[in-house]
Amino acid sequence: MTTDTILIVDDTPTNIGVLFEYLTQKGFKVLVAQDGESALEQLQFSRPDLILLDVLMPGIDGFETCRRLKAQAATKDIPVIFMTALAETVDKVRGFEVGAVDYITKPIQHEELLARVTAHLTIRKLQESLIQQNEALQREIAERERLHGEKNYLQEEIKTHYNFEEMVGVSPAMEKVFENVARVAGTDTTVLITGETGTGKELVARAIHNLSPRKSSALIKVNCAALPSGLIESELFGHEKGAFTGATAKKKGRFELADAGTIFLDEVGELSFETQVKLLRVLQEQEFETVGGTKTLKVNVRVIAATNRELQEEVKKGAFRADLFFRLNIFPVHLPALRERSEDLPLLADYFMKKFAGKTGKRVNAISPAALDLLKHYHWAGNVRELTNVIERAVILCDESVLQPKHLNLTTAASISDEEVWNMEEVERQHILKALKRTRGQVGGANGAANLLGVNRTTLIARMKKLGIGAAEGME
Ligand SMILES: Nc1ncnc2c1ncn2[C@@H]1O[C@H](COP(=O)(O)OP(=O)(O)OP(=O)(O)O)[C@@H](O)[C@H]1O
Ligand SMILES: [Mg+2]
Repeated sequence: MTTDTILIVDDTPTNIGVLFEYLTQKGFKVLVAQDGESALEQLQFSRPDLILLDVLMPGIDGFETCRRLKAQAATKDIPVIFMTALAETVDKVRGFEVGAVDYITKPIQHEELLARVTAHLTIRKLQESLIQQNEALQREIAERERLHGEKNYLQEEIKTHYNFEEMVGVSPAMEKVFENVARVAGTDTTVLITGETGTGKELVARAIHNLSPRKSSALIKVNCAALPSGLIESELFGHEKGAFTGATAKKKGRFELADAGTIFLDEVGELSFETQVKLLRVLQEQEFETVGGTKTLKVNVRVIAATNRELQEEVKKGAFRADLFFRLNIFPVHLPALRERSEDLPLLADYFMKKFAGKTGKRVNAISPAALDLLKHYHWAGNVRELTNVIERAVILCDESVLQPKHLNLTTAASISDEEVWNMEEVERQHILKALKRTRGQVGGANGAANLLGVNRTTLIARMKKLGIGAAEGME
């Protein structure tokens, strides 16, 4: 049984009577009006679901009545069906033109009337539900947009508080670094980034590039320590086909690839003396020749260099050219060791814990005070990289929501007790020896000491050389 309301507008009382009886019997609620004007009046306070409208009536006719009710927001969506005795096609068309959905010809067949009325009521209901769904969807979209905006805003907030281009830190030393990075990024000035291994030198180099006008061009990295000395020139400057045995095709060098962008000379302290001379020339003239080539290439490259060595000391020892050092050291950025900025430790630990928890889907969401205390008193020879590795491992080991000291696995590594104060090099020596012992002397690879310490292989080898450690020492 339906309770839809139908308004019948007709000036012939017998017509109204017949329809009233039939539709009421079919379960509709029926309203009536005898002309257009009284219908419009009635529509001010009643809201039928459908209107059956006669065409020829005294006063305003059916067409005009329909036009007026379609012109009003409150009534324009009510479906109108004309009842017409006129056989003229032109009248039927006119009915559609003023906004009717259908017509039915007199004398009215009751079954046909019922079929049409029911069909249009159904269509109207579907339309209404579509409109509602659409409105709900629009509201949802607006809400999402608002949330997205809020998220961006919060991310900005977080960034300005302690996260600058992926770099976390609140210590005065790191704030100085952020400030210097922001200051120098917009220029073409050569930057020399110094700091122990794992302090974030590469991160700083990327931040400078990303904040610079060159960010849409390439950032080309050269690991000076990893390139074999015989190949470094061809890597930096490129070579012609046949320039040397094995040069089967012409190859572009990193300086050419970095044209219009930035070149990042990582571990620049490891360059041989001869390559240092050639590098100096590119830095001064922004031009070079390819290996085996005769043409001089001109490039526009911004240079960022990094080293974990004390370059000034190397200059004194005669291992690094003074002129190159001065050319690189135009704008120095020094990254303090992690143990020198314990204010950053809780923040960094929390940052990595959340990052790895997110990555691994673990529910760990806090670090216990005892675990934090342990982290604060540990000697971070591998700096932030080592902390990253320790937290990653801890998150994997942790099946609770809070990280505990047992998950950190720090007791077996070299941590100095409060009573002992060792010389820094000795601490590092002991630390490396312990790692080598664990890996049975293996330096590189997934199970090697370098991985365990969170440094790269070449860095570890360089440190071992400096500290006089042979790889075999870890084997006994
Ligand atoms: N301030 C920091 N905030 C967040 N992550 C950091 C920060 N500093 C370093 N890291 C992370 O620590 C790891 C080591 O950083 P990076 O590679 O930049 O160090 P590095 O100084 O270049 O080391 P190396 O001398 O061994 O090459 C990276 O995973 C980096 O994302
Ligand atoms: Mg690096």
